[in-house]
Amino acid sequence: MCGITGFTGSQPALPFLLQGLSRLEYRGYDSAGITLVNGKALRTWKTKGRLAQLEELLSKDLAESCGIGHTRWATHGVPSNMNAHPHMNEEETISVVHNGIVENYAELKEELMENGYVFHSETDSEVIVQLLDYYYNEKPVMKEALLKTVKRLTGSYAVCVTTIFEPDTIYVAKKESPMVLGQSPEGTFCASDAPALLEYTREIYPMQDGQIAILNADRIDLFDLKGKRQELKWIHFPYDIQSAQKGGYDSYMMKEIHEQPSAIRETLRGRFHGNKTVMPVIDQLDADWDSITNTYFIACGTAYHACIYAEILYRRYTGKMSSVIPASEFRYSNPSLNEHTLCIFVSQSGETADTLAALRLAKSKGCITISVVNVLGSSISRQTDAVLYTAAGPEIAVASTKAYTTQLVLLHVLVLKLAELYGIRVRGISRLIRDLRHLPEITEEVLAKEPQMKELAKMLKDQKDAYFIGRQLDYPTALEGALKLKEISYVHADAYYAGELKHGPIALIEENTVVTAMATQPEIAAKTISNIKETVARGARVILITDPFMSAQEFEYVVRIPDISPELAAVPCAVLLQLFAYYGAMEKGCDIDKPRNLAKSVTVE
Ligand code: AGP
Repeated sequence: MCGITGFTGSQPALPFLLQGLSRLEYRGYDSAGITLVNGKALRTWKTKGRLAQLEELLSKDLAESCGIGHTRWATHGVPSNMNAHPHMNEEETISVVHNGIVENYAELKEELMENGYVFHSETDSEVIVQLLDYYYNEKPVMKEALLKTVKRLTGSYAVCVTTIFEPDTIYVAKKESPMVLGQSPEGTFCASDAPALLEYTREIYPMQDGQIAILNADRIDLFDLKGKRQELKWIHFPYDIQSAQKGGYDSYMMKEIHEQPSAIRETLRGRFHGNKTVMPVIDQLDADWDSITNTYFIACGTAYHACIYAEILYRRYTGKMSSVIPASEFRYSNPSLNEHTLCIFVSQSGETADTLAALRLAKSKGCITISVVNVLGSSISRQTDAVLYTAAGPEIAVASTKAYTTQLVLLHVLVLKLAELYGIRVRGISRLIRDLRHLPEITEEVLAKEPQMKELAKMLKDQKDAYFIGRQLDYPTALEGALKLKEISYVHADAYYAGELKHGPIALIEENTVVTAMATQPEIAAKTISNIKETVARGARVILITDPFMSAQEFEYVVRIPDISPELAAVPCAVLLQLFAYYGAMEKGCDIDKPRNLAKSVTVE
């Protein structure tokens, strides 16, 4: 997710560009840049780092009245000055900012290089400005050049273009990435999200996929991809800036819970070709896969729960020896490490000190190291032999939600890829890939159960304790559900293997104790149900989360996930338990985004 702003009008553009970008920093902030244009020159300033570093490059008296700006959340190419946007053509007559992922950038880049184009960045976005240059040189009409360019792109884009040839005009195109337009007596605006506009206008127009817009000082013209004019209907934006940055939700956590369908979609984008997984960075590893003798999954907190999920699948799909160890324990647990050991590190921030320390030990022993990380260019991502990025976008709330579900899906694909490399054909692979592709829609369906989870969370109001239970793949779900609840509502919550209750923990169950039980794994459902009944017999109030087919008439509170492969049930279950924890915390009046005692990234051991 990146932040884009654009302005053309009767005032200097710079104040809006910078103010707008500062309102959008929650969308990503590893580098920033702007282009200003007038009849004589098109000038670009850009730098790695936060918006403040960009502002240090700019003198305040820059008076150009047309320009575009960008804050970057890197997806291709680590944060650097060269990879920062805007990107210009060689002659520096055209400048572009982009938010999204150009899936086919490699082939476009090759085609352009064969036509003599020279590239300066590692980004996918640079192909856009070079394509524009190519088509504009063919026929110097920017609207047509833009239409031809975007028709060549597969993937997602929100693009703004300025050019010295039309110094008062901004061209905009949109597909899947957000772009809103605005207008005021001072001029016309575009931005990735409404917060950037609200100090200038509350009349906005959210562009639709497949539209292009031409912004001039006193008008905006809208077209479809055939170049046919479209009507622009302004809407009044109801929220103030703070709530707009949260997408209209009360908290970043709720916004991020609802971003999960798109986060999962972006994370899985381009990851399959038929029934094969697509992970070039893993294919390119110099590893003798047949000689792998053991595998470790290593992480902290929520990422550790994702590792437990992945390790169960890894053993199930590959039959290989494997372990999952909290990073804070790893280097003290005398692990057996050598060049035949595969170590997989998972981290949202990519900066967790315990995970970094574990990585250093694994590297010192010659292990093959792979990381699954959400922040491009972070320490862990730079130090492993291969890195796979979740595409969750910045996760602001301390309690991890979209990072977790994107870790689950990307780790699932990684385990399938490893099985392929071991020469193992995973049973049900077609069904698994079909359901992985369907996960964004499944997640949308589960989010519609928010009212039910809000109602059930009322059961937590007077509770000091809550328990989560499950077996096999339901166990990491129980762990993550307990962590979510305890870290934002401060309710003491614990997770147990359902089969372990009778070996001690069931002593804790008393009248009205709330037990949330997962039973989504058909091969052990009967046993799980009997474990759950043991708690009911001791007075527990059970919330059963299960699949559409499980017989559950004896349970009072049942939440059913959509029909999906049991190997993927952890994703919809996680979303339900995030909502449960959220409303449990609301019941107690807790600070959702910044819980007491916690930090978003634990960079101390
Ligand atoms: C999750 O809700 C917590 N914020 C915490 O457990 C977190 O998952 C853990 O600190 C690991 O962080 P990382 O993924 O950035 O390494």
